Order: sequence, then C-alpha cells, then structure tokens
Amino acid sequence: MIRDIQDEIIRLKKENDICILAHSYQGHEILEVADFTGDSYKLSVDASKVTNKNILFCGVHFMAETAKMLSPDKHVYLANPLAGCPMAEQMDPEMITEIKNREPDRKVVAYINTTAALKTVCDVCVTSSSAVKIVSSMEDKKLLFIPDCNLGAFVQKACPDKDIMLLNGGCPVHAAVTGDEVREAKALHPGALVLVHPECRPEVSEQADYVGSTAGIINFARKSEAREFIIGTEISIAEHLQYDCPDKRFYIMSKKIVCPNMKLTTLSEVYNTARSIAAGDGEAFEILMSDELIAKARVCIDEMLRLGG
Ligand code: 13P
Ligand code: SF4
Repeated sequence: MIRDIQDEIIRLKKENDICILAHSYQGHEILEVADFTGDSYKLSVDASKVTNKNILFCGVHFMAETAKMLSPDKHVYLANPLAGCPMAEQMDPEMITEIKNREPDRKVVAYINTTAALKTVCDVCVTSSSAVKIVSSMEDKKLLFIPDCNLGAFVQKACPDKDIMLLNGGCPVHAAVTGDEVREAKALHPGALVLVHPECRPEVSEQADYVGSTAGIINFARKSEAREFIIGTEISIAEHLQYDCPDKRFYIMSKKIVCPNMKLTTLSEVYNTARSIAAGDGEAFEILMSDELIAKARVCIDEMLRLGG
C-alpha cells in the first residue's frame, strides 16, 4: 500500500516537473520519495539550485517560504498548510525594530526558523549547522540573536569574543527536555554517547558528548566507532539513523521530542498535493509572497549563503 502511493507520487512528480524537498524530521516513507533531503541549511542551498517548475515542500511553513524566496519564479507548495513552527511566530518585526532603535550598533542574527516578515528587519540568517561559522566570520562584535536563546547561548559559548544579546524564545519541542531526563537516559544506556541539538537547554547540552545540528548529529553517528547513541533531537532522527546503521543502536533521549508540526505531513498529503499540482485545480497550498517581501527578506538569506558557503 505505502509502496503503491510512493510509486504514484514518483510518477506524478516526473510527469509534472515537480521537485520534492523534505526536511530530515519527516517520516522515512516521505524521505524515500524526495529529491532532496536534509536539514534547514542543506535544503536552503538545494532550493536555490532546483531547475523544476514546481517545488513540493515537506516540512514547516518557514522552510517553504525560504524555498520560495530562493526560487521566486517557481511554484512552491507546502504539503500540509497547517504545518507551522511555533518558534518562527514568537517575535514580530516591530519588537525587533524597537530594540534596533535602542541599540543601533547591534547587528541582528536571525535563526532561519523565523517568518519572512521578521527576516526583513534582520541582517543575516543562520541555521543550527551554520550559526557558529557565520557568527564567527562576522566582523561585528555586538549582536542580537533571535529567537532561540538556547542556540544563541551555544553560539555565544563558541564565539567568546562576541557580545550576543538574547531574548526569551526557543523551540518548545527541544526545550521540553530536562537535565534529569538526560541523566535517566544515561543510567539506562551507560555505554551510549549522547548527541544533542543546540535547541536543547544548556542543562541538557552540558551533558552531551556532541552538540550539533541535525546534519551534524547524523554525520557524527554514522562516522563514530561507538555502537550506541542517545539521540537528543526529534525522534525521527533516531529512526532514520537506525535504518542507515543497522549494526548500531539508537535510543531516544525523551519521548517528548516529537515535533507535532513536522508530523502533520503524511504520505497521503504529499500524494494529494502532487495530484492537485498535476490537475491544476488550485487545491494545493501554494506559498504566495509579494516581490517586495521576497526582495527585503532575501537579503539576510543571501548573506547566510555568502558567509556559510
Ligand atoms: P536544523 O534542520 O537546522 O537542524 O533545525 C532543526 C529544527 O528544529 C528544524 O525546525
Ligand atoms: Fe519548530 Fe521546534 Fe518543530 Fe523545529 S522542532 S519545526 S524549531 S517546533
């Protein structure tokens, strides 16, 4: 049954010039039909290179918006229109403009998990895999990092020469994990290495053997000589790693690290969206943005690609 739907999606995308981009937090059955998979940074770079007329994005809204900004002449569709990221909605442009007016010499570094509207008032974007590289390559010392204070604290630790102002924002999924849960997971699996995403709280990251982005965690686990790992990021990553490395053991750090928004996208929705694109019936959820918004918000994404490349 799953194989039949996958075959139909593959047929529809070939016949209708559709490229499927899927974030690594999507289920395995979705990654199998995607043309590009990866973390936020890799997908941004991939989106800028797509030659197809249509992009079908499996992830959350800000990611599809980023793809649209990088490929403004293409039709970009989000598989599930309800898939948003609560962190991306936490701050608005007025709030950041007010801080900029008070502290005009601070450059604003925005995590890519932000709306296009918020990006218009920021100087450079980062993802979790590019944040340290980009911040350390900036000449400016005084920065405001938004919205994730946990990722911001991780960057501050890695770049001690910078003065980074943080606000009270973050990913509710990763930030839900506590230091006690890490201690419990370590007690259950004493031989396992602990790999943690920097969106987790410092009390969690401090107990890790490795802190890094989604792609960083995947690469670390694949290359490591160790046999057992506790995965401190969205649980789908433990599942994908188990497929990739069947001779190793992957344990989830906490049952809480499930992103309900990422899980909204199902294979049926990918199929329905591809079918609507093919039929041109207007049912597929297309990302529509004005040229002005794209031009203003894209500045900080281009800066990210320039400094992170
Ligand atoms: P990365 O894809 O940059 O690792 O971010 C994780 C995340 O939470 C995506 O929403
Ligand atoms: Fe947003 Fe967190 Fe979900 Fe990523 S894991 S999409 S940051 S809520």
